[in-house]
Amino acid sequence: MAKASPSFVCQNCGATYNRWQGKCESCGEWNTLVEEAGDSAVPVSIRAKRRGRPFKLESLAGKSVDAPRLPSGMAELDRVTGGGFVRGSVLLVGGDPGIGKSTLLTQATSLMARSGHRAVYISGEEAVAQVRLRAERLGLASAPVELAAETSVEDIIATLSEGATPRLIVIDSIQTMWTDTVESAPGTVTQVRASAQALIRFAKKSGAAIILVGHVTKDGQIAGPRVVEHMVDAVLSFEGEGSQQFRILRAVKNRFGPTDEIGVFEMTGLGLREVANPSELFLSERDLGSPGTAVFAGIEGTRPVLVELQALVAPTTLGTPRRAVVGWDSARLSMVLAVLEAHCGVKLSGYDVYFNVAGGLRINEPAADLAAAAALVSSLANSPLPTDAVYFGEISLSGAVRPVAQTAARLKEAAKLGFARAILPETARGDAPSDAGMALQTVGGLTSLVADIAARGTPRPAGRDSSSSEKNATPARFRRQEG
Ligand code: TYD
Ligand code: MG
Repeated sequence: MAKASPSFVCQNCGATYNRWQGKCESCGEWNTLVEEAGDSAVPVSIRAKRRGRPFKLESLAGKSVDAPRLPSGMAELDRVTGGGFVRGSVLLVGGDPGIGKSTLLTQATSLMARSGHRAVYISGEEAVAQVRLRAERLGLASAPVELAAETSVEDIIATLSEGATPRLIVIDSIQTMWTDTVESAPGTVTQVRASAQALIRFAKKSGAAIILVGHVTKDGQIAGPRVVEHMVDAVLSFEGEGSQQFRILRAVKNRFGPTDEIGVFEMTGLGLREVANPSELFLSERDLGSPGTAVFAGIEGTRPVLVELQALVAPTTLGTPRRAVVGWDSARLSMVLAVLEAHCGVKLSGYDVYFNVAGGLRINEPAADLAAAAALVSSLANSPLPTDAVYFGEISLSGAVRPVAQTAARLKEAAKLGFARAILPETARGDAPSDAGMALQTVGGLTSLVADIAARGTPRPAGRDSSSSEKNATPARFRRQEG
């Protein structure tokens, strides 16, 4: 029998080559190609002999058997999955090491098991004793979860095929699994892909919901196989700053639900605690009355979330000023800075700009523009913003403030948390309920907002570009260039 020719597989994107090369042409990464045995030892000439078997085609209107979703009992997790685990679906949960993936899934399986469903936890990384220790710490040791430390996919499937079909199976992690059908070492792209494929096939056939845990590389992608992301039904990413207690679960892909919902958790000594009202958490350690902070009334999925935006604008000592952003799009920041410079006469070229979203949240909404601009100008002008105000609105390249969706929901959340005024786009007033319980201050353009903030500030010693007097209430860098 002819020996299968070797193939070289990129460990980053899964592209295959028949000879080694330094750079993967598909994803551009260097030195990621590793020799792996092919997917199958059976030559194509033998495999191809089988004739196709005709199958029955179904109609779209067919009846589906019983309720396909099962809520986990953790409201924050269910919010992200779209209402619970779908029968026969496969979910990939990614996140940095130590972020709390095993903790989250231990809690989820325990809740499932306690409510009478068969739940299985397979750990490929930790010994049974270690998993037990964690469960004990979480106070869940009594939950009837079935536990094993196994890495062979064939053994796992053989074991789980016996008896009642488990309702939920956790595989922690997919990188440690290996299958006999391919010869590569565990952790390689070929192994991970083949193992995932076998488990997905088992899920579809048996109707069990499977959760795969995936590692994340330093640049934030689920390690090795991006291909696995395409194979599974949903990809959830578990994020958070290591030093902070907040953890955010976010759907990156979801075939059965929305991808804009977030679940918020807090890591405590007793495991992950669900945070039903994230605004309170994100605003809990507010630095009241200091310049450079603004509260943004945002929407994450269906839920309004208030979060503090922080800006620091400081004179630069470098030739090229620094622009550092955490939690927001850096292109978006550049855009807001350019609009401030072009239309409002705010000179920022001599300043470093640092921008941060408090609490480790990542904002994707354009509605944050106005709050970001307010924080930036507040820092530059050394002018604290009113502590009882929230901001939202999109800024267009012309400097106009554009309306955003869900004005009423944003105002309601802000009023609930004790804010007394909102700074919002002019055109949004119509969407605001008459009994918003807040003073509404509309802005048509960015210029008026900037003038308003600057007028209240005491300017700091300026950067290289400024020659303004420090006593001047409206420093030269804020004055509109007329004519
Ligand atoms: P773990 O779930 O093991 O992370 P992962 O599986 O994503 O690698 O969580 C490990 C971290 O969580 C570890 O730093 C300790 C912390 N932790 C708590 O703070 N409280 C707890 O109750 C538990 C179980 C873990
Ligand atoms: Mg783990």
